[in-house]
Amino acid sequence: MHLRRPRWLTASAIAFLVPTLLVGFATAALAATTALPGDPTKGQTLYSSSTCSTCHGPSLGGGIGPALHPIKKLGDAKDPLDPQYLISTITAGKNGVGGYGAMPAKGGDSKLKDQDIKDLAAFIIKQNQITGPVPLAPGPLAISTIEWVTVGILAMLALTYVLSRYNMRWIARKSGHR
Ligand code: HEC
Repeated sequence: MHLRRPRWLTASAIAFLVPTLLVGFATAALAATTALPGDPTKGQTLYSSSTCSTCHGPSLGGGIGPALHPIKKLGDAKDPLDPQYLISTITAGKNGVGGYGAMPAKGGDSKLKDQDIKDLAAFIIKQNQITGPVPLAPGPLAISTIEWVTVGILAMLALTYVLSRYNMRWIARKSGHR
């Protein structure tokens, strides 16, 4: 009777821990590739509702100001997608660097808060990440999909196996004691 509780606990601990770890790893992997300074969805809304689109184009293609996607290297930044560079450029504006006109501080929209500017920077980075040079070709993409699906199936099989073993032992122990 005293042994029953720990076994039950171990099985549920495993049932709980394995998915948690998997989700944790997936989240960590995602976070590593998309370390954004803010919320890109809010940034997108701000971009369209603020002054930005007038000068940089409704779909970031440029106009009076340089294209933001694919982002132009203006000459004063090593990496124009560096969050700090984007945040300080949007906050302070820019003038005479890339041979365009002038960008007023905050695009002339003094209502923009610090967080809004971070969200705008996140939106610009995200856009440049999505259609950047990273997407996998069909072949490698298929292989990577198959690999991940296989890993998923194996993990579920292993979990099922572990759980059923514990269950069987538990049943055996119970009926043995009767
Ligand atoms: C009045 C036109 C105008 C508005 C409005 C405007 N910009 Fe600009 N923006 C420019 C110009 C012109 C430049 C380039 C300045 C230079 O070359 O010195 C620029 C540069 C930039 C850069 C640097 C791009 C790079 O390739 O390094 C970013 C980022 C940027 N703007 C974001 C924004 C955002 C976000 C908004 C809205 C809050 C905005 N801009 C509003 C005209 C504008």
